[in-house]
Amino acid sequence: MPSDATAVNWTPSGKPFLAADYVNDGKKHLLLAASGSVATIKIPNIIHALSHCPDLSIRLILTSSAHEFLQGQSAEQPTLAEIGRMPNVGGVYLDGDEWSEPWVRGAAILHIEIRRWADLLVVAPLSANSLAKMSLGLADNLLLSVVRAWDTTGLIDGIRKHIIVAPAMNTAMWMHPVTQKHLRILEGEWGMEIAQDGWIEVIRPVQRTLACGDTGNGAMRDWSEIVAVVIQRLDLGNSTA
Ligand SMILES: Cc1cc2nc3c(=O)[nH]c(=O)nc-3n(C[C@H](O)[C@H](O)[C@H](O)COP(=O)(O)O)c2cc1C
Repeated sequence: MPSDATAVNWTPSGKPFLAADYVNDGKKHLLLAASGSVATIKIPNIIHALSHCPDLSIRLILTSSAHEFLQGQSAEQPTLAEIGRMPNVGGVYLDGDEWSEPWVRGAAILHIEIRRWADLLVVAPLSANSLAKMSLGLADNLLLSVVRAWDTTGLIDGIRKHIIVAPAMNTAMWMHPVTQKHLRILEGEWGMEIAQDGWIEVIRPVQRTLACGDTGNGAMRDWSEIVAVVIQRLDLGNSTA
């Protein structure tokens, strides 16, 4: 049974997605992802803002929790089908897409193809759960398999590509000591700002009254700031219409 995303987007021509088919498409490839935070509802804003970049192609991965926030339940929460029809969106993926066909030798492996395709991965929002898994190297869904298969040296893809994450969580989650441990790995060991050979950039959250009513740090940075970082990192500044 194809997942929602597969049915809409993944193989519109029935042909498996292969990164090699897009090497010379003249586009920058943004792999955008969301994990299970309320800030997932900002994904349509981010995509809409980037729809004015003519040389950009976007593929979106949602964890199963993130998918819960985009079911068409309100005007600001469109369905994946609607997101899939937004300009520049070339594919929307859920965990089920990794296994949409029984795998046989020689068949494409989606999380590897997506990794090869991406010039930049942006996880916005990054939930506390996915932050923890990322820092520990767990790979039990499509998004985390891409993150775990990231070419951190650049020796495989020929270039060291970057991952930007924008954590978003309840204030108590943010202040929990384990969060600081995970951040120390992402920023202190793998971070671009600290290590010359780092590949991760953390866009730290801000203080706000959160959706749950608590006030404090943990809110995802405004989506427009994330868009600005993407435009800068992918050098899209001259291509916005
Ligand atoms: C309505 C709702 C809002 C949530 N908001 C957040 C949030 O902002 N940040 C967060 O880290 N977890 C939040 N959670 C909890 C995560 O969705 C949960 O930990 C989930 O396992 C995350 O899975 P994922 O990291 O695979 O997406 C929320 C849960 C619900 C039901």
